[in-house]
Amino acid sequence: MYAAVTLFVSMCLTATTLADHHQPCHSPNMTGQMSVMNLKGDIKAIGVYTYDSLAKKLRFRSNETEAFNTSLTLDVLMFFEEGVFYEIDSKNQSCEKKSLQSVHNPLEIPSDAKSMSTITIGSASIEGEGLKVNVWLGTVPETKAHYSISSTMGCLPVSSLHFLDSTTILFSNLQIETEIKDPDLLTLPSFCEGEPVEETPEGTVNSFVNLFI
Ligand SMILES: *[C@@H]1O[C@H](CO)[C@@H](O)[C@H](O)[C@H]1NC(C)=O
Ligand SMILES: *[C@@H]1O[C@H](CO)[C@@H](O)[C@H](O)[C@H]1NC(C)=O
Ligand SMILES: *[C@@H]1O[C@H](CO)[C@@H](O)[C@H](O)[C@H]1NC(C)=O
Ligand SMILES: *[C@@H]1O[C@H](CO)[C@@H](O)[C@H](O)[C@H]1NC(C)=O
Repeated sequence: MYAAVTLFVSMCLTATTLADHHQPCHSPNMTGQMSVMNLKGDIKAIGVYTYDSLAKKLRFRSNETEAFNTSLTLDVLMFFEEGVFYEIDSKNQSCEKKSLQSVHNPLEIPSDAKSMSTITIGSASIEGEGLKVNVWLGTVPETKAHYSISSTMGCLPVSSLHFLDSTTILFSNLQIETEIKDPDLLTLPSFCEGEPVEETPEGTVNSFVNLFI
């Protein structure tokens, strides 16, 4: 995972190729693993996710591993289209429903993102030793946070940086499969049904990225 960070940072530094003007692409349905860390070196979470790119639903469940000292335990189900999400506690079968102030998330290239460059991580000349990515830049309208997302030519978002006021967060997207392996993960658990929306405290921004501050 540290390798992924190093890769990403060096990629940012060497992304000097001429900008082209690709339209932002749409990511496919995905199942994969995600690691989240800040640039102070804190590993916030490592987990598995399921993403429905059409219905704009995301489930992320963090996985505490002994190898890393992660600081967050999270199980969230995001309904971006409806602007709400649920924090789920399967153990005691409880649920909190909250409204989203921003639907920005690291698995989708925003439609107003600008293509900065196309670069190859690794080697462009040795077969199987390079990964060609588009680097997208933009600003989240609701939070004014800048981001940089790199995606493969097939629009798999592999890595992204989100520059928030207080911190910078790096998402790495690993072991991607372009299908929803378990659709049940995207349906609301029955114990969450009818849950009222909690009030968002003044000044709080709820978004997927902000969960990891
Ligand atoms: C993504 O998954 C949803 C739900 O299973 C399905 O309706 C949709 O067609 C899928 N999209 C693609 C591009 O496969
Ligand atoms: C956590 O990771 C382990 C090992 O990869 C896996 O067996 C387990 O199912 C994962 N747990 C969750 C909740 O995904
Ligand atoms: C794990 O993280 C906690 C809090 O962030 C810290 O107090 C603890 O020393 C860390 N443990 C190790 C082994 O790094
Ligand atoms: C469920 O567990 C969490 C933490 O473990 C606790 O904060 C919460 O109050 C519990 N909810 C219920 C309904 O017991």
